[in-house]
Amino acid sequence: MTVRLGFLGAGFIADHHAGMLALSGADAVVAAVFDPDPDRAAAFASRYSSVAVSSETELFDASDAVYVCTWTSEHPRLVAEAARRALPVFCEKPLAVGLDQAVDLARVATAAGIVNQVGLVLRDSPALLLLRSMMDDPADGDVLTVVFRDDQYLPVRGVYKSSWRSDVARAGAGTLLEHSIHDLDLLEWLMGPAVAVSARTRHHHRLVGIEDVAGVHLEFATGASAHLVSVWHDVLGRPSQRRIEVFRQRAWYCLTGDVFGPVSWSRTTVGELAAADDEGAADHSGQWTSGVAAEPESLEGDALVAELRRRGVALRFPDAGFVEAVASGTAATPGVVDALRAHVVADAAYRSAADGGRWLDIPAGVPLTS
Ligand SMILES: NC(=O)c1ccc[n+]([C@@H]2O[C@H](COP(=O)([O-])OP(=O)(O)OC[C@H]3O[C@@H](n4cnc5c(N)ncnc54)[C@H](O)[C@@H]3O)[C@@H](O)[C@H]2O)c1
Repeated sequence: MTVRLGFLGAGFIADHHAGMLALSGADAVVAAVFDPDPDRAAAFASRYSSVAVSSETELFDASDAVYVCTWTSEHPRLVAEAARRALPVFCEKPLAVGLDQAVDLARVATAAGIVNQVGLVLRDSPALLLLRSMMDDPADGDVLTVVFRDDQYLPVRGVYKSSWRSDVARAGAGTLLEHSIHDLDLLEWLMGPAVAVSARTRHHHRLVGIEDVAGVHLEFATGASAHLVSVWHDVLGRPSQRRIEVFRQRAWYCLTGDVFGPVSWSRTTVGELAAADDEGAADHSGQWTSGVAAEPESLEGDALVAELRRRGVALRFPDAGFVEAVASGTAATPGVVDALRAHVVADAAYRSAADGGRWLDIPAGVPLTS
């Protein structure tokens, strides 16, 4: 069965998903699109051989499954309508403008039993998958700490062209919720449950409720920590950059490209460490004498993908995964419950920031049952 997909919203991320669906060869068509901006809807329809309809009702009627790609405040209402009609839904992140609304959305979707997936697409990025595979290997010792920097220009301009990101009623908050909810999700996906948080936020652009700097310190159940800095600036050459440094007992990994790397690393084996200890480690010119490579190794692009294949890590297009789940009626991933967990962590960070950065415990799990 070719799945008929309906797109609610015809902006930046809708374009990304429709493009990825075409690239992946998923057995689906973009059957209809609705956007209150008719020019956007018409341009999108023309790009993807689709039909621009004039109401949400027409869109739902024409679809086997829907993509919710509107600004954030509209997500809960549209997911609730999909659930009422028992239609599978792909909802963009964040789920909602705040934790309470995100809880409502997740409850409605799970109670209806609909196939649901969310736009936490970095979980499928080859570079992040390699980093996760490296972190899962016990050989390098405990994970000590992660230093995570995420920066982009204030996304009301450039490729984003979206005024709603400066409006707290539609966006909910600034760089931490709107953008770095990806990072909070990734940190738990990489490191397991976070148990405590201390955060501070700043508002240099003077947009009410829209923070442009967030510093978030997290402690994890394993004893590891993470330090996330999320920044919205005005440097137009930097539309979106992440740098993740992982320090383990005997290894350092560094990711500098979200999708295809490079991912670099430097490691010391237990044997090398013992030899270095025996030899006194360094000569007086500061050079290691134990034969340990000083230059980090690095992989990117096709070589990184080949390494994932060698490790047996499955690769997929998230949108093709959604279409397959819809066609087979099986669970999709990551789903609204995964995204709700990221909201729980974000909410604790904002509560800490409102309290001057006080350390707060992060509630375990997700508040799905009332
Ligand atoms: N997963 C990711 O990496 C990622 C990246 C960018 C954006 N997003 C998320 O996607 C969502 C949209 O962001 P964007 O950058 O595409 O914004 P955008 O401004 O480019 O597009 C949003 C569109 O939604 C339309 N819209 C508003 N209400 C609507 C409704 N009721 N029905 C149909 N259309 C409606 C607007 O007219 C606009 O054209 C946001 O929640 C954002 O956080 C996710």
